[in-house]
Amino acid sequence: MRKKIKIGLFGYGCVGQGLYQVLSKTNGLKAEIKKICVKNRNKTRDLSSEIFTYDKNEILFDPEISVVVELIDDATAAFEIVKTALKNGKAVVTANKKMLAENLEEIYQLQQHHGKPVLYEGAVCGSIPILRNLEEYYDNDLLTGIEGIFNGSTNYILTKVFDEKKSYKDALRQAQELGFAETDPSLDVKGFDPKFKLAIAIAHTFGVFVKPENIVNIGIDKLSDLDLKFANERGYAIKLIARAFKKDNQVFGFVAPQFVETSDPLYQIRNEYNAVQVHSAFAEKQLFVGKGAGSYPTGSAVLSDISALSYDYAYEYKKLNQAHDLTFSNELVVEVFVRFDQRSDISINDFEEFYSGYASQGQHYMQGLVELEKLKAWAQNPSIGLIVAPQPQLQVIRQREQVEFAA
Ligand code: HSE
Repeated sequence: MRKKIKIGLFGYGCVGQGLYQVLSKTNGLKAEIKKICVKNRNKTRDLSSEIFTYDKNEILFDPEISVVVELIDDATAAFEIVKTALKNGKAVVTANKKMLAENLEEIYQLQQHHGKPVLYEGAVCGSIPILRNLEEYYDNDLLTGIEGIFNGSTNYILTKVFDEKKSYKDALRQAQELGFAETDPSLDVKGFDPKFKLAIAIAHTFGVFVKPENIVNIGIDKLSDLDLKFANERGYAIKLIARAFKKDNQVFGFVAPQFVETSDPLYQIRNEYNAVQVHSAFAEKQLFVGKGAGSYPTGSAVLSDISALSYDYAYEYKKLNQAHDLTFSNELVVEVFVRFDQRSDISINDFEEFYSGYASQGQHYMQGLVELEKLKAWAQNPSIGLIVAPQPQLQVIRQREQVEFAA
């Protein structure tokens, strides 16, 4: 018999409102939002004022509330809410990827300590049920890699820029208006948001906790008209790809824009849709597709977590017990296209292997293999653009051998 759940909700923004709507239209789940804690007293809201509170303790110390749903923007405040809720014997559902990625190991330990679950399907690729699949369905299959489009806003922007010839600025504004982008959209366009999601996915894929600051992220903010022309001439799309894979006892992962060929299933993923391709030893490749951002899609993932709590579901972090001596590493060489002008000091000697060069409109492209750490440094230089090659070669530095897994 499923339990009746009383929810205390933190935040009534895009996802909070989506959850409220989705919950009110769901018949199967016995759950009710008792209180909503919000910050801004002057905002007009579409619900009766009785349901709102400005005091977090009205939720955190209410014995009737068994589930705290945390959907606020501020990662530091969110982590405090999660810790207090667990300490007070409440289960938590959150979609705060930054807070989760930065504190995942501690959140895992807090769950063990307090015996209460934290669920966060909505934090990784919106409506795609990837975490529970990684935990449950792929429990025994040997996972070798995971990659895909982990950010809805940037995919929306790239789709509008490529398909509708919209300007980058207009496309970003639309993504903000539709509620896809983060309050600080640089988290999307600079690749931080997909990196947070990748860090969470790595824990559930490989059983390794990696701090987001250790993962290289290169965004789409420096793409130029020439990059678009270059892609169009070759029939490529450009997608912001997050990827992680395992080789022997090391896990590698990074986020970067990539040229994607028409034959690649990720080519077809448009607008705010996300896609996750899972590589496993026995099932081989499987692709999950769904809306990765927006009020209702993310609200539906949060609702699914609340529903899972009604039958006492908790992540077991099964891969942690299987991750014998696995460590995260950036000792990787990646096949990229590097665009630069005379202001940048790039030469063939920067490449581990140099494949070809092109020059157009005072800009140069060089294609070849470059160390990930070097790419990270170049990403800081405004006159250098970086795009991963289609079906890129990825080589582990120590072994200098081609990794079979390739997007
Ligand atoms: N800003 C995020 C995105 C929201 O665009 O994917 C969903 O996590």
